[in-house]
Amino acid sequence: MAKYEIIGGTPLSGEVVISGAKNAVVAILPATLLVPGKCRIENVPDISDVRILLDIMRSMGASVEWAEPGVVEIDCTDVPYGEPNPELVRKMRASYYLLGAQLGRYGRSHVALPGGCAFAARPIDQHIKGFGLLGADVEETEEYVAMEPGPDGLHGQRISLDVVSVGATANIMLAACLIEGQTIIENAAKEPHIVDLANFLNTMGARISGAGTDTIKIRGVKQLHGGTYAAIPDQIEAGTYMAAAVATGGNVLVQNVIPKHMECITTRLREMGAKITEFDDAIRVQATRPLRRITVKTMPYPGFPTDMQAQICVCMVLATGTSRLTESVYETRFFGYCSELENMGAKIKVEGKTASVVGIGDRKLRGTTVHAKDLRAGAALIIAGLAAEGTTYVKNIHYVERGYERIIEKLTKLGAQIKRIEE
Ligand code: EPZ
Repeated sequence: MAKYEIIGGTPLSGEVVISGAKNAVVAILPATLLVPGKCRIENVPDISDVRILLDIMRSMGASVEWAEPGVVEIDCTDVPYGEPNPELVRKMRASYYLLGAQLGRYGRSHVALPGGCAFAARPIDQHIKGFGLLGADVEETEEYVAMEPGPDGLHGQRISLDVVSVGATANIMLAACLIEGQTIIENAAKEPHIVDLANFLNTMGARISGAGTDTIKIRGVKQLHGGTYAAIPDQIEAGTYMAAAVATGGNVLVQNVIPKHMECITTRLREMGAKITEFDDAIRVQATRPLRRITVKTMPYPGFPTDMQAQICVCMVLATGTSRLTESVYETRFFGYCSELENMGAKIKVEGKTASVVGIGDRKLRGTTVHAKDLRAGAALIIAGLAAEGTTYVKNIHYVERGYERIIEKLTKLGAQIKRIEE
């Protein structure tokens, strides 16, 4: 196991370049299974979730290589039907996209149930509902999901999701691309990475419209074709560095972003008193303590993202007055980090879906040893360590390295005193 040692108190300053969006890339890579040809994907972050997914694709028979840093060339033309390696599948959440990709490509599928960050119950009933409405017979056990064509075969269908689900929206899109007829997904997720997946598929010859709205239409085509596609920048990585700049009272230029995607985060940080300047593909974040208290409720896009809950909570801790943070996507997400922040001197009272965060005003958090319990909780504890006085050790940082490319290098370049220690 490894941990990070952080000597806090230095305001971050300088420039950070944001990598490709993890949650777009982990859907686009399985989508290449639908393509009889070579796909060149650019802006791919070198993070453990991506490395695991590429190992899964290789184990299925795909030809996979890093053509250059950040660029993956993958050819699934000769991938035979077969169950992806269950050991690898269980290492991450997004492996479940192989269900939709296999169903679209082969008309059947068999994939072990996914793993991933366990900060909440993460059902896949909406994915199963979508596949069933597309005409698949779905068998779901404790270990796997298996699908075969039902008696009427696979066909386009109107599917109305009961909850706004990124995963179900993406998985149904993957399956429907090559299924004859028109599929309509209602109550679809609108996240930037959903739009990015649709844009990738359309670049390869799919016929998807409406991505980014709550109604997505997919007209099944006979075949896709290879091509080149560059993934969007990572909204949550960018938001994490913006929150770190605010928490440390720094001045950081966050480069390679799409400001429109960041609006839900930019607005909140401005409310806390940060000075934020937007450029075409960059955002400058400047802040001085004390920060103002705010009220935030996480929502599906374009609302404030649940994946930024932990990071904004750290900024709230460093504010004056009591902030309120309500979680509407995963109720139990607070438990991944609030007690750890309290060990650093924070005062957070969680009641149901809402946390009341008592700001410490001009006081400082104190460095200590804390434990990451999931990807974004780990990122938040790093931000807290950067803002604290003294030394903070963040343990279980394998969670963090699932989703943040070269985080030590990027933070060091911003003046942070952070290093990785093997235990
Ligand atoms: C994606 O997870 C992201 N992961 C998560 O990011 C993110 O927190 C989440 O979307 C919400 O934005 C990836 O994209 C790989 P959902 P996903 O399906 O698709 C309920 C990170 O930090 N639901 O949108 O699993 C579910 O319980 C990760 O990068 C059902 O009830 O999320 C939740 O309350 C963590 N049934 C809500 O919907 C289903 O079949 C949203 O879940 C599916 C979901």
